[in-house]
Amino acid sequence: MRSPADSWCRWGGRLAACMVSCFLVALLVTLHALYDSAVYTIQYQGGLSDEGLEAMLLANSADMFTAPEVPDDPGGEYLGGGYPGGGDSGDVTIVSGNVHTNEVDKDLHFEDKEDGDEDVGRVRFPRTSRRLPQCLIIGVRKCGTRALLEMLFLHPRVQKAAGEVHFFDRDDNYSRGLEWYRKKMPHSFPHQVTIEKSPSYFVTPEVPERVRAMNASVKLLLIVREPVTRAISDYTQLRSHAATASPSPPPGPPGQQQPQGQRSFEELALKPDGSVNLAYRPLSTSLYYSFLHRWLDVFSRDQLLVVNGDLLIEDPVPELRRIEQFLGLEPRIGRHNFYFNHTKGFFCLRNETADKCLRETKGRRHPRVDPAVISKLRKFFSEHNQRFYDLVGQDLGWPEE
Ligand SMILES: *[C@@H]1O[C@H](CO)[C@@H](O)[C@H](O)[C@H]1NC(C)=O
Ligand SMILES: *[C@@H]1O[C@H](CO)[C@@H](O)[C@H](O)[C@H]1NC(C)=O
Ligand SMILES: *[C@@H]1O[C@H](CO)[C@@H](O)[C@H](O)[C@H]1NC(C)=O
Ligand SMILES: *[C@@H]1O[C@H](CO)[C@@H](O)[C@H](O)[C@H]1NC(C)=O
Repeated sequence: MRSPADSWCRWGGRLAACMVSCFLVALLVTLHALYDSAVYTIQYQGGLSDEGLEAMLLANSADMFTAPEVPDDPGGEYLGGGYPGGGDSGDVTIVSGNVHTNEVDKDLHFEDKEDGDEDVGRVRFPRTSRRLPQCLIIGVRKCGTRALLEMLFLHPRVQKAAGEVHFFDRDDNYSRGLEWYRKKMPHSFPHQVTIEKSPSYFVTPEVPERVRAMNASVKLLLIVREPVTRAISDYTQLRSHAATASPSPPPGPPGQQQPQGQRSFEELALKPDGSVNLAYRPLSTSLYYSFLHRWLDVFSRDQLLVVNGDLLIEDPVPELRRIEQFLGLEPRIGRHNFYFNHTKGFFCLRNETADKCLRETKGRRHPRVDPAVISKLRKFFSEHNQRFYDLVGQDLGWPEE
């Protein structure tokens, strides 16, 4: 039997124990916060030169900030040099953030060591790290994948991998594992989207499964153009590469077959009996349906956005709006980011600090192709295009002759 005083004591004891626990928890939380902010300050000061600090202060007060010069990109795809991102030179773009809220409101770009050697001579901000891409541009070759990536890079919340990594489609790269792939990615903040593009992903059978193994909810961008135009563009590029690769025909027995580079598109696209030669890669790649269904066996339809490459070049902003929405980004890319260069007949891109236009060869002139052959190919493709429209639930309105 207990006396009332006895149970009063017990109750009081519990209360005291409870209060002590509360106090300890509060103390721990406070210490943790203090520790965090101390580490943060150390990282911040350790990682930033005086110039960087000044830049940061400027960036936090001014509306626009001019970045230091970026290194030349000799292997790049752009006219005039001075722009990163074309070749495989591993340019890294680092975006500054407000250190207190970690909100990126201004962009800062720093020079990176040419060979991409990790963490040497690089200014790094807390909380940036290399992340696996959350979005891939999977193809299609010759449909404007590079232009698309460069346009998206105008958005402050987009980071892009340099060059084409070819991780998922090349066995030797894939066997190096995801850590290798991650190290090919640029630094980014948690709220930024990292995008990689390798157009051969689209046509390589193993790729969809491998991408899913990385991230089953990844977002995919597929840019397409009218299939016959695409095939001719593909032919044009292959021919110009063949021409630069072997300026003089290699020695061989007389009567040897003419190299592909010298043959006309009409000869390659049609068999001698006049039927369509689907063994010719530039044509088979344009059978979008046959590749896309493999992707949609693995990913749900809402993870894939089909971008109309012909529209993107003609009038980029509406297409980019759709993509921003798809990626969950606020609309930021607008008319002010583009101007048309009449000499080139092509859009040039402009951000706060620089202009860049696609290199001349990107707008390579197509050879004149016999209109009867074009019409024949378009008729042939119309049935395949219809299957593609049905699969994606979107009619791209490509001509049927
Ligand atoms: C991936 O492998 C290919 C050879 O299969 C190579 O040419 C390419 O450069 C590799 N990618 C990278 C980023 O090393
Ligand atoms: C997977 O991709 C989705 C969509 O982009 C992204 O939100 C998510 O963070 C990614 N997951 C990982 C682990 O990267
Ligand atoms: C347009 O392109 C031409 C040829 O490349 C170049 O010389 C000219 O400066 C460009 N004009 C503008 C306004 O960018
Ligand atoms: C503007 O574009 C150039 C060329 O791509 C790039 O080097 C630079 O970092 C960009 N600046 C901003 C503020 O995004």
